[in-house]
Amino acid sequence: MSVVGVGVDIVKIEKICNAIGKWGDAFLSRVFDDEELAKITKNKLYYQRLAGRFAAKEAVIKAISKSQQFALKDIMILNKPNGAPYCKLTKDIGMEIMLSITHIEDYAVACAVAQKIEN
Ligand SMILES: CC(C)(COP(=O)(O)OP(=O)(O)OC[C@H]1O[C@@H](n2cnc3c(N)ncnc32)[C@H](O)[C@@H]1OP(=O)(O)O)[C@@H](O)C(=O)NCCC(=O)NCCS
Repeated sequence: MSVVGVGVDIVKIEKICNAIGKWGDAFLSRVFDDEELAKITKNKLYYQRLAGRFAAKEAVIKAISKSQQFALKDIMILNKPNGAPYCKLTKDIGMEIMLSITHIEDYAVACAVAQKIEN
């Protein structure tokens, strides 16, 4: 596999809180798939984890380049049993995405690396 793109994004947690305050479930269902939402417990990290996923989706879009048309919801961010994030795309684009996410009280940051799968 060879690296074909990299992307990074930062999201202010407040932006996610405000969007949910204003648009509620309409915002959540526009950005996140049910499978993602089902895995995010509504505890004190709820908004941080949503913001981390939002940042990850934007980082993935940067990594795969804008020539690939993806809605945010088509880029699912899930966690492996050990907690590490991974990306599931609704369309096969012949790429594997590697991800890293971090979040603190005010910000979430994500980085994505796209690798081309060589047959
Ligand atoms: C995995 C670990 C590095 C996460 O660090 P953290 O500062 O607690 O949390 P961050 O906000 O930076 O990152 C959280 C994100 O890390 C990612 N993550 C969790 N486990 C992971 C793992 N095993 N591998 C890669 N990424 C992981 C997740 O995406 C998580 O966000 P999410 O749950 O919303 O998806 C940390 O829990 C860990 O295991 N550290 C090992 C060192 C240690 O044990 N230190 C404590 C003794 S001093």
